[in-house]
Amino acid sequence: MRYWELLGEAPIPGAGQSLFLYQGKDDFFIRLTGGHELMNTRKHGSEDALGALPCQRLKQPGSARVLIGGLGMGFTLAAALKVVGPEAVVTVAELIPGVMEWNRGPLGERSGRPLDDPRTRVYSGDVAELLRTKKAGFDVIALDVDNGPEGMTQKANDWIYSMSGISTASKALRPGGILAYWSAGPDSEFRNRLQQCGLTLDEISVFAHGKKGARHTIWLATLEV
Ligand SMILES: C[S@@+](CC[C@H](N)C(=O)[O-])C[C@H]1O[C@@H](n2cnc3c(N)ncnc32)[C@H](O)[C@@H]1O
Repeated sequence: MRYWELLGEAPIPGAGQSLFLYQGKDDFFIRLTGGHELMNTRKHGSEDALGALPCQRLKQPGSARVLIGGLGMGFTLAAALKVVGPEAVVTVAELIPGVMEWNRGPLGERSGRPLDDPRTRVYSGDVAELLRTKKAGFDVIALDVDNGPEGMTQKANDWIYSMSGISTASKALRPGGILAYWSAGPDSEFRNRLQQCGLTLDEISVFAHGKKGARHTIWLATLEV
């Protein structure tokens, strides 16, 4: 009997690679061309934290404007929606149309179908476009578009972690807003870049799953008023 089944392939625009969605006995997982596992539905502690932690720090979470990039398996989006209030709007930007479709199918059950929440807005495209165009638009911007500053799915995502990308993203924040970044691990060069952009920084180590084992890194960078 097969242990897992391939459910779909979603090409990454302009990258010559794809993401593949598999279903195992109890979980779903997403792999990149070549076999690297990008994420699975069993371990999402740090993805949850990326959505919840910055929203918990807001003075007025009830009516927050939040931007999340990208959707992945929907855990960061779902966690942000749990913290913010009824007047909030949470925009999720996702580059790959197929990923959006997977979340509207059986995969979406695992995160509680956050795309169906009336406070959710979907942007189908590159989150960098929103960072460049929405000046002072968000109270929280939570970015998990790759493996972290050392990305692997999209070379173009390097910009998001560059001085120029950080500076542009900080201008998309409202005063007092928080930029949150996910990474597979610590990165002193990226940390230095955040500090050089004048942001007040908190580096948090979060378990990938439960209360032991692998940890991931989340940076919360605040634009002081
Ligand atoms: C590691 S997953 C995100 C996981 C997510 N935090 C969760 O809770 O499931 C990265 C996602 O970002 C998307 N992505 C990659 N580059 C992007 C970009 N420039 N703009 C928007 N989405 C992007 C990928 O297609 C993928 O769905």
